[in-house]
Amino acid sequence: MEEEIKEKLKKYGQEHVLAFYNELTEGQKRKLEEQVKKIDFSLLDELFRNKEEKMKEETIEPINYEIRSKLENKEKKLYTQLGKQAIRSGKVAVCQMAGGQGTRLGHNGPKGTYMVPLAIPKSIFQIFAEKLQEINKEYSVWIPWYIMTSDENNEETIDFFEKNKYFNYPKEKVSFFRQGKLAMLDTQGRVILNKKYEIKEAADGNGGIFEALYRNNILEKMKEEDIQWLGIGNVDNILLNLVDPLWIGMAESRKVLLSTKTVTKVNPTEKVGVVCKIGGKPGVIEYTEISEQMANLCDENGQLVYGQSYFGCALYNINLLEKIGAKKLPYHPAFKKCDYIAENGELVTAETANAYKFESFIFDSFKFTDEVLFLNVKREEEFAPIKNKIGADSPETAKKLYEAFKKKLENLN
Ligand code: UTP
Repeated sequence: MEEEIKEKLKKYGQEHVLAFYNELTEGQKRKLEEQVKKIDFSLLDELFRNKEEKMKEETIEPINYEIRSKLENKEKKLYTQLGKQAIRSGKVAVCQMAGGQGTRLGHNGPKGTYMVPLAIPKSIFQIFAEKLQEINKEYSVWIPWYIMTSDENNEETIDFFEKNKYFNYPKEKVSFFRQGKLAMLDTQGRVILNKKYEIKEAADGNGGIFEALYRNNILEKMKEEDIQWLGIGNVDNILLNLVDPLWIGMAESRKVLLSTKTVTKVNPTEKVGVVCKIGGKPGVIEYTEISEQMANLCDENGQLVYGQSYFGCALYNINLLEKIGAKKLPYHPAFKKCDYIAENGELVTAETANAYKFESFIFDSFKFTDEVLFLNVKREEEFAPIKNKIGADSPETAKKLYEAFKKKLENLN
Protein backbone atom coordinates (compact mmCIF):
# COMPACT_ATOMS: atom_id res chain seq x y z
CA MET A 1 0.00 0.00 0.00
CA GLU A 2 1.19 3.47 -0.80
CA GLU A 3 2.57 5.30 2.23
CA GLU A 4 0.56 8.34 1.18
CA ILE A 5 -2.72 6.53 1.96
CA LYS A 6 -1.66 5.54 5.46
CA GLU A 7 -0.45 9.07 6.09
CA LYS A 8 -3.70 10.57 4.88
CA LEU A 9 -5.79 8.34 7.15
CA LYS A 10 -3.50 8.97 10.10
CA LYS A 11 -3.61 12.72 9.65
CA TYR A 12 -7.40 12.70 10.00
CA GLY A 13 -7.72 9.98 12.67
CA GLN A 14 -9.32 7.53 10.22
CA GLU A 15 -6.93 4.57 10.46
CA HIS A 16 -9.81 2.23 11.39
CA VAL A 17 -10.58 2.15 7.65
CA LEU A 18 -7.74 -0.36 7.31
CA ALA A 19 -8.94 -2.62 10.15
CA PHE A 20 -9.70 -5.51 7.76
CA TYR A 21 -7.11 -4.68 5.13
CA ASN A 22 -5.17 -7.90 5.53
CA GLU A 23 -8.27 -10.00 4.88
CA LEU A 24 -9.04 -8.31 1.57
CA THR A 25 -8.39 -9.62 -1.91
CA GLU A 26 -6.02 -7.62 -4.11
CA GLY A 27 -8.99 -6.17 -6.00
CA GLN A 28 -10.73 -5.11 -2.82
CA LYS A 29 -7.55 -3.51 -1.51
CA ARG A 30 -7.19 -1.41 -4.66
CA LYS A 31 -10.86 -0.40 -4.48
CA LEU A 32 -10.51 0.80 -0.90
CA GLU A 33 -7.28 2.65 -1.65
CA GLU A 34 -8.83 4.42 -4.62
CA GLN A 35 -11.75 5.49 -2.49
CA VAL A 36 -9.48 6.85 0.26
CA LYS A 37 -7.50 8.80 -2.34
CA LYS A 38 -10.63 10.52 -3.59
CA ILE A 39 -12.22 11.43 -0.26
CA ASP A 40 -11.74 14.96 1.00
CA PHE A 41 -11.14 14.22 4.68
CA SER A 42 -10.33 17.81 5.43
CA LEU A 43 -13.84 18.84 4.31
CA LEU A 44 -15.39 16.03 6.39
CA ASP A 45 -13.38 17.14 9.38
CA GLU A 46 -14.64 20.68 8.99
CA LEU A 47 -18.25 19.55 8.51
CA PHE A 48 -18.09 17.39 11.63
CA ARG A 49 -16.63 20.16 13.75
CA ASN A 50 -19.24 22.67 12.60
CA LYS A 51 -22.26 20.37 12.64
CA GLU A 52 -23.83 21.93 15.74
CA GLU A 53 -23.20 25.45 14.54
CA LYS A 54 -26.39 27.35 13.94
CA MET A 55 -26.79 29.08 10.60
CA LYS A 56 -25.66 32.69 10.89
CA GLU A 57 -28.46 34.80 12.35
CA GLU A 58 -29.65 36.82 9.40
CA THR A 59 -32.52 39.18 8.92
CA ILE A 60 -35.59 37.52 7.49
CA GLU A 61 -37.87 39.71 5.44
CA PRO A 62 -40.84 39.09 3.17
CA ILE A 63 -40.21 38.90 -0.56
CA ASN A 64 -42.37 39.89 -3.50
CA TYR A 65 -44.14 37.33 -5.60
CA GLU A 66 -46.53 37.35 -8.53
CA ILE A 67 -49.76 35.45 -8.78
CA ARG A 68 -50.31 33.69 -12.07
CA SER A 69 -54.09 33.89 -11.98
CA LYS A 70 -53.96 37.63 -11.36
CA LEU A 71 -51.81 38.55 -14.35
CA GLU A 72 -53.60 40.71 -16.88
CA ASN A 73 -54.70 39.02 -20.07
CA LYS A 74 -52.40 41.24 -22.11
CA GLU A 75 -49.41 40.16 -20.04
CA LYS A 76 -50.41 36.51 -20.16
CA LYS A 77 -50.59 36.64 -23.92
CA LEU A 78 -47.25 38.33 -24.33
CA TYR A 79 -45.42 35.95 -21.97
CA THR A 80 -47.02 32.89 -23.49
CA GLN A 81 -46.00 33.98 -26.96
CA LEU A 82 -42.42 34.60 -25.88
CA GLY A 83 -42.29 31.29 -24.05
CA LYS A 84 -43.66 29.37 -27.02
CA GLN A 85 -40.98 30.87 -29.22
CA ALA A 86 -38.30 29.84 -26.73
CA ILE A 87 -39.63 26.27 -26.61
CA ARG A 88 -39.99 25.98 -30.37
CA SER A 89 -36.49 27.24 -31.02
CA GLY A 90 -34.99 24.64 -28.70
CA LYS A 91 -33.91 27.01 -25.95
CA VAL A 92 -35.44 24.95 -23.16
CA ALA A 93 -34.27 21.73 -21.47
CA VAL A 94 -35.54 20.00 -18.35
CA CYS A 95 -33.99 18.10 -15.49
CA GLN A 96 -35.59 15.84 -12.92
CA MET A 97 -33.74 15.55 -9.66
CA ALA A 98 -33.90 11.86 -8.99
CA GLY A 99 -30.89 11.16 -6.81
CA GLY A 100 -32.75 11.01 -3.49
CA GLN A 101 -33.25 7.87 -1.45
CA GLY A 102 -37.00 8.20 -1.02
CA THR A 103 -36.73 6.85 2.50
CA ARG A 104 -40.23 7.91 3.52
CA LEU A 105 -41.91 6.22 0.55
CA GLY A 106 -39.96 3.05 1.20
CA HIS A 107 -40.18 1.92 -2.44
CA ASN A 108 -37.60 -0.66 -3.37
CA GLY A 109 -35.90 1.18 -6.24
CA PRO A 110 -35.42 4.71 -7.55
CA LYS A 111 -38.45 6.92 -6.86
CA GLY A 112 -39.04 7.56 -10.56
CA THR A 113 -39.65 3.84 -11.07
CA TYR A 114 -42.52 3.84 -8.58
CA MET A 115 -45.77 2.67 -10.19
CA VAL A 116 -48.45 5.24 -9.46
CA PRO A 117 -51.77 3.44 -8.89
CA LEU A 118 -53.70 5.22 -11.66
CA ALA A 119 -56.52 3.42 -13.52
CA ILE A 120 -53.71 2.19 -15.77
CA PRO A 121 -50.72 2.16 -13.42
CA LYS A 122 -47.73 4.12 -14.72
CA SER A 123 -44.31 4.82 -13.35
CA ILE A 124 -43.42 8.39 -12.40
CA PHE A 125 -40.89 8.45 -15.24
CA GLN A 126 -43.51 7.34 -17.73
CA ILE A 127 -45.90 10.07 -16.61
CA PHE A 128 -43.18 12.64 -17.22
CA ALA A 129 -42.24 11.12 -20.58
CA GLU A 130 -45.86 11.37 -21.71
CA LYS A 131 -45.90 15.02 -20.76
CA LEU A 132 -42.80 15.65 -22.87
CA GLN A 133 -44.40 13.76 -25.74
CA GLU A 134 -47.39 16.08 -25.59
CA ILE A 135 -44.98 19.01 -25.78
CA ASN A 136 -43.46 17.41 -28.85
CA LYS A 137 -46.87 17.17 -30.50
CA GLU A 138 -47.54 20.80 -29.84
CA TYR A 139 -44.15 22.35 -30.60
CA SER A 140 -42.39 19.77 -32.79
CA VAL A 141 -39.32 19.67 -30.55
CA TRP A 142 -37.89 16.92 -28.44
CA ILE A 143 -37.00 18.67 -25.22
CA PRO A 144 -33.60 17.49 -23.89
CA TRP A 145 -34.45 15.51 -20.76
CA TYR A 146 -31.79 15.28 -18.05
CA ILE A 147 -32.07 13.03 -15.04
CA MET A 148 -29.86 13.50 -12.03
CA THR A 149 -29.17 10.20 -10.32
CA SER A 150 -26.87 9.23 -7.48
CA ASP A 151 -24.32 6.45 -7.16
CA GLU A 152 -26.93 4.55 -5.19
CA ASN A 153 -29.54 4.48 -7.98
CA ASN A 154 -27.83 5.36 -11.26
CA GLU A 155 -27.64 1.87 -12.74
CA GLU A 156 -31.13 0.88 -11.70
CA THR A 157 -32.52 4.08 -13.20
CA ILE A 158 -30.81 3.54 -16.55
CA ASP A 159 -31.86 -0.13 -16.59
CA PHE A 160 -35.45 0.94 -16.05
CA PHE A 161 -35.31 3.28 -19.04
CA GLU A 162 -33.69 0.58 -21.17
CA LYS A 163 -36.27 -1.99 -20.14
CA ASN A 164 -39.08 0.42 -20.98
CA LYS A 165 -37.51 1.52 -24.28
CA TYR A 166 -37.25 5.07 -23.00
CA PHE A 167 -41.04 5.25 -23.02
CA ASN A 168 -40.81 5.94 -26.76
CA TYR A 169 -38.90 9.15 -26.12
CA PRO A 170 -35.83 9.53 -28.39
CA LYS A 171 -33.00 7.93 -26.45
CA GLU A 172 -30.47 10.52 -27.64
CA LYS A 173 -32.55 13.21 -25.96
CA VAL A 174 -32.34 11.55 -22.55
CA SER A 175 -29.18 12.02 -20.45
CA PHE A 176 -28.34 10.75 -17.00
CA PHE A 177 -25.72 12.29 -14.78
CA ARG A 178 -24.65 11.47 -11.27
CA GLN A 179 -24.64 13.86 -8.40
CA GLY A 180 -21.73 13.95 -5.96
CA LYS A 181 -21.43 12.06 -2.72
CA LEU A 182 -20.01 12.54 0.75
CA ALA A 183 -18.92 10.02 3.35
CA MET A 184 -21.21 9.57 6.34
CA LEU A 185 -19.66 10.00 9.80
CA ASP A 186 -20.27 8.29 13.12
CA THR A 187 -20.72 10.24 16.35
CA GLN A 188 -16.94 10.41 16.75
CA GLY A 189 -16.46 11.92 13.30
CA ARG A 190 -15.08 8.69 11.85
CA VAL A 191 -16.07 7.48 8.41
CA ILE A 192 -18.19 4.32 8.39
CA LEU A 193 -17.32 1.05 6.68
CA ASN A 194 -20.37 -0.53 5.08
CA LYS A 195 -18.21 -3.32 3.68
CA LYS A 196 -14.78 -4.33 4.85
CA TYR A 197 -13.40 -2.66 1.75
CA GLU A 198 -15.82 0.23 1.34
CA ILE A 199 -16.49 3.52 3.10
CA LYS A 200 -20.17 4.48 3.18
CA GLU A 201 -20.78 7.50 0.98
CA ALA A 202 -24.20 9.04 0.37
CA ALA A 203 -25.64 11.50 -2.15
CA ASP A 204 -24.74 15.09 -1.30
CA GLY A 205 -28.27 16.54 -1.43
CA ASN A 206 -30.22 18.07 -4.31
CA GLY A 207 -28.01 21.17 -4.12
CA GLY A 208 -25.35 18.89 -5.59
CA ILE A 209 -27.00 19.44 -8.96
CA PHE A 210 -24.98 22.54 -9.78
CA GLU A 211 -21.58 21.02 -9.21
CA ALA A 212 -22.71 17.87 -11.03
CA LEU A 213 -23.95 19.77 -14.10
CA TYR A 214 -20.65 21.61 -14.19
CA ARG A 215 -18.41 18.61 -13.55
CA ASN A 216 -20.17 16.44 -16.14
CA ASN A 217 -19.74 19.16 -18.82
CA ILE A 218 -23.48 19.37 -19.25
CA LEU A 219 -23.52 23.13 -19.14
CA GLU A 220 -20.96 23.22 -21.91
CA LYS A 221 -23.06 20.87 -24.00
CA MET A 222 -26.18 22.90 -23.37
CA LYS A 223 -24.39 26.06 -24.46
CA GLU A 224 -23.26 24.39 -27.67
CA GLU A 225 -26.88 23.51 -28.36
CA ASP A 226 -27.91 27.07 -27.56
CA ILE A 227 -30.10 26.03 -24.65
CA GLN A 228 -30.82 29.00 -22.45
CA TRP A 229 -33.19 27.73 -19.80
CA LEU A 230 -33.12 24.62 -17.67
CA GLY A 231 -36.29 23.75 -15.80
CA ILE A 232 -35.34 21.76 -12.70
CA GLY A 233 -37.89 19.84 -10.67
CA ASN A 234 -38.46 17.15 -8.08
CA VAL A 235 -38.96 13.71 -9.56
CA ASP A 236 -41.71 12.92 -7.07
CA ASN A 237 -44.22 15.55 -8.23
CA ILE A 238 -46.44 13.91 -10.84
CA LEU A 239 -47.95 17.25 -11.89
CA LEU A 240 -44.50 18.79 -12.43
CA ASN A 241 -44.91 21.43 -15.12
CA LEU A 242 -41.49 22.56 -16.30
CA VAL A 243 -42.16 23.32 -19.96
CA ASP A 244 -44.59 26.11 -19.24
CA PRO A 245 -44.67 28.82 -21.94
CA LEU A 246 -46.14 31.57 -19.78
CA TRP A 247 -43.56 31.01 -17.06
CA ILE A 248 -40.61 30.85 -19.44
CA GLY A 249 -41.77 33.93 -21.35
CA MET A 250 -42.33 35.83 -18.14
CA ALA A 251 -38.78 35.08 -16.96
CA GLU A 252 -37.42 36.25 -20.32
CA SER A 253 -39.54 39.36 -20.35
CA ARG A 254 -38.60 40.30 -16.78
CA LYS A 255 -34.94 39.63 -17.58
CA VAL A 256 -34.38 37.47 -14.51
CA LEU A 257 -31.93 34.59 -14.39
CA LEU A 258 -34.05 32.49 -12.07
CA SER A 259 -37.73 31.96 -11.49
CA THR A 260 -39.36 29.48 -9.17
CA LYS A 261 -42.96 28.53 -8.72
CA THR A 262 -44.61 28.66 -5.33
CA VAL A 263 -47.90 27.51 -3.86
CA THR A 264 -49.78 29.13 -1.01
CA LYS A 265 -49.41 27.40 2.33
CA VAL A 266 -52.50 25.47 3.34
CA ASN A 267 -52.31 26.89 6.85
CA PRO A 268 -49.71 28.77 8.92
CA THR A 269 -48.35 25.60 10.49
CA GLU A 270 -47.92 23.56 7.31
CA LYS A 271 -44.47 21.94 7.42
CA VAL A 272 -42.96 23.50 4.32
CA GLY A 273 -40.18 25.97 3.60
CA VAL A 274 -41.29 29.43 2.50
CA VAL A 275 -39.64 31.96 0.21
CA CYS A 276 -38.32 35.14 1.77
CA LYS A 277 -35.28 37.40 1.89
CA ILE A 278 -32.46 36.10 4.05
CA GLY A 279 -29.85 38.75 4.79
CA GLY A 280 -31.27 40.78 1.90
CA LYS A 281 -31.02 37.93 -0.63
CA PRO A 282 -33.71 35.61 -1.98
CA GLY A 283 -33.94 32.31 -0.14
CA VAL A 284 -36.10 29.73 1.56
CA ILE A 285 -36.59 29.48 5.29
CA GLU A 286 -37.44 26.05 6.66
CA TYR A 287 -40.50 25.64 8.85
CA THR A 288 -38.22 24.59 11.69
CA GLU A 289 -36.40 27.90 11.55
CA ILE A 290 -39.33 30.30 11.42
CA SER A 291 -40.94 31.62 14.63
CA GLU A 292 -44.61 30.97 15.32
CA GLN A 293 -45.27 34.69 15.22
CA MET A 294 -43.70 35.03 11.78
CA ALA A 295 -45.51 31.97 10.49
CA ASN A 296 -48.84 33.53 11.49
CA LEU A 297 -48.12 37.09 10.38
CA CYS A 298 -50.73 38.44 7.94
CA ASP A 299 -50.72 41.48 5.67
CA GLU A 300 -53.53 44.06 5.38
CA ASN A 301 -55.44 41.70 3.08
CA GLY A 302 -55.30 38.87 5.55
CA GLN A 303 -52.74 36.93 3.49
CA LEU A 304 -49.83 35.19 5.22
CA VAL A 305 -46.71 37.35 4.84
CA TYR A 306 -44.58 34.19 4.79
CA GLY A 307 -47.10 32.05 2.97
CA GLN A 308 -45.45 31.06 -0.30
CA SER A 309 -43.89 27.66 -0.24
CA TYR A 310 -41.20 26.49 -2.62
CA PHE A 311 -42.08 23.03 -3.95
CA GLY A 312 -39.15 22.09 -6.16
CA CYS A 313 -39.96 23.62 -9.51
CA ALA A 314 -37.45 26.17 -10.79
CA LEU A 315 -36.23 27.69 -14.03
CA TYR A 316 -32.54 28.58 -14.26
CA ASN A 317 -30.83 30.56 -16.94
CA ILE A 318 -27.72 28.81 -18.19
CA ASN A 319 -25.52 31.81 -17.28
CA LEU A 320 -26.62 31.57 -13.69
CA LEU A 321 -26.03 27.81 -13.64
CA GLU A 322 -22.45 28.43 -14.71
CA LYS A 323 -21.95 30.93 -11.96
CA ILE A 324 -23.39 28.64 -9.28
CA GLY A 325 -21.53 25.57 -10.55
CA ALA A 326 -18.24 27.19 -9.66
CA LYS A 327 -19.38 28.02 -6.11
CA LYS A 328 -19.91 25.94 -3.02
CA LEU A 329 -23.30 25.66 -1.39
CA PRO A 330 -23.42 25.15 2.38
CA TYR A 331 -23.93 21.62 3.74
CA HIS A 332 -26.67 20.88 6.25
CA PRO A 333 -26.16 17.96 8.66
CA ALA A 334 -28.82 15.31 9.26
CA PHE A 335 -28.66 12.42 11.73
CA LYS A 336 -29.66 9.19 9.98
CA LYS A 337 -29.55 5.40 10.21
CA CYS A 338 -26.52 3.80 8.60
CA ASP A 339 -25.64 0.08 8.63
CA TYR A 340 -22.01 -0.56 9.46
CA ILE A 341 -19.28 -3.15 9.88
CA ALA A 342 -18.57 -3.54 13.57
CA GLU A 343 -15.12 -4.16 15.06
CA ASN A 344 -15.72 -7.91 14.93
CA GLY A 345 -16.28 -7.69 11.18
CA GLU A 346 -20.03 -8.32 11.34
CA LEU A 347 -22.49 -6.14 9.44
CA VAL A 348 -24.81 -4.39 11.89
CA THR A 349 -28.24 -3.10 10.82
CA ALA A 350 -28.84 0.28 12.42
CA GLU A 351 -32.16 0.37 14.28
CA THR A 352 -31.89 4.03 15.23
CA ALA A 353 -30.06 7.06 13.81
CA ASN A 354 -26.34 6.69 14.33
CA ALA A 355 -24.59 8.72 11.65
CA TYR A 356 -24.25 12.17 10.16
CA LYS A 357 -25.10 12.79 6.55
CA PHE A 358 -24.31 16.13 4.94
CA GLU A 359 -26.48 17.58 2.21
CA SER A 360 -26.74 20.82 0.28
CA PHE A 361 -30.14 22.18 -0.75
CA ILE A 362 -31.02 23.52 -4.17
CA PHE A 363 -32.71 26.61 -2.74
CA ASP A 364 -29.45 27.78 -1.18
CA SER A 365 -28.58 28.77 -4.74
CA PHE A 366 -31.20 31.54 -4.86
CA LYS A 367 -28.83 33.94 -3.16
CA PHE A 368 -26.50 33.94 -6.17
CA THR A 369 -28.82 36.25 -8.03
CA ASP A 370 -30.33 39.50 -6.77
CA GLU A 371 -33.72 38.94 -8.22
CA VAL A 372 -35.76 35.77 -8.34
CA LEU A 373 -39.17 35.85 -9.94
CA PHE A 374 -41.45 33.92 -7.60
CA LEU A 375 -44.64 32.90 -9.36
CA ASN A 376 -47.55 31.62 -7.35
CA VAL A 377 -49.43 28.85 -9.12
CA LYS A 378 -52.44 26.74 -8.22
CA ARG A 379 -51.52 23.79 -6.08
CA GLU A 380 -54.18 21.55 -7.63
CA GLU A 381 -52.73 22.18 -11.10
CA GLU A 382 -49.02 21.73 -10.45
CA PHE A 383 -48.27 19.96 -7.22
CA ALA A 384 -49.03 16.31 -6.57
CA PRO A 385 -46.09 15.01 -4.53
CA ILE A 386 -45.40 11.41 -3.59
CA LYS A 387 -43.39 11.50 -0.39
CA ASN A 388 -45.01 9.13 2.09
CA LYS A 389 -46.33 5.59 1.88
CA ILE A 390 -49.73 6.58 3.25
CA GLY A 391 -51.58 9.68 4.43
CA ALA A 392 -50.60 13.15 3.23
CA ASP A 393 -48.48 13.43 0.09
CA SER A 394 -48.82 9.75 -0.66
CA PRO A 395 -49.57 7.81 -3.87
CA GLU A 396 -53.29 7.98 -3.05
CA THR A 397 -53.41 11.78 -2.65
CA ALA A 398 -51.19 12.29 -5.71
CA LYS A 399 -53.38 10.02 -7.82
CA LYS A 400 -56.52 11.98 -6.84
CA LEU A 401 -54.88 15.30 -7.68
CA TYR A 402 -53.52 13.98 -10.96
CA GLU A 403 -56.81 12.50 -12.09
CA ALA A 404 -58.79 15.57 -11.08
CA PHE A 405 -56.45 17.81 -13.06
CA LYS A 406 -56.59 15.57 -16.14
CA LYS A 407 -60.37 15.65 -15.97
CA LYS A 408 -60.36 19.42 -15.71
CA LEU A 409 -58.16 19.64 -18.81
CA GLU A 410 -60.42 17.27 -20.72
CA ASN A 411 -63.44 19.38 -19.86
CA LEU A 412 -61.64 22.48 -21.09
CA ASN A 413 -60.81 20.93 -24.44
P1 UTP B 1 -36.56 14.87 -0.73
O1 UTP B 1 -35.92 15.85 0.17
O2 UTP B 1 -38.02 14.75 -0.64
O3 UTP B 1 -35.84 13.47 -0.52
O4 UTP B 1 -36.11 15.23 -2.20
P2 UTP B 1 -36.18 12.02 -1.05
O5 UTP B 1 -34.89 11.30 -1.13
O6 UTP B 1 -36.97 12.03 -2.32
O7 UTP B 1 -37.11 11.41 0.05
P3 UTP B 1 -36.84 11.10 1.60
O8 UTP B 1 -36.63 12.43 2.27
O9 UTP B 1 -35.62 10.21 1.70
O10 UTP B 1 -38.08 10.40 2.04
C1 UTP B 1 -36.66 16.24 -3.00
C2 UTP B 1 -36.15 16.00 -4.40
O11 UTP B 1 -34.73 16.09 -4.45
C3 UTP B 1 -34.16 14.91 -4.99
C4 UTP B 1 -35.20 13.83 -4.74
O12 UTP B 1 -35.00 12.75 -5.64
C5 UTP B 1 -36.49 14.60 -4.95
O13 UTP B 1 -36.78 14.74 -6.32
N1 UTP B 1 -32.88 14.63 -4.31
C6 UTP B 1 -32.80 14.61 -2.96
C7 UTP B 1 -31.80 14.38 -5.09
O14 UTP B 1 -31.88 14.37 -6.34
N2 UTP B 1 -30.61 14.12 -4.47
C8 UTP B 1 -30.48 14.10 -3.14
O15 UTP B 1 -29.35 13.86 -2.65
C9 UTP B 1 -31.60 14.36 -2.36
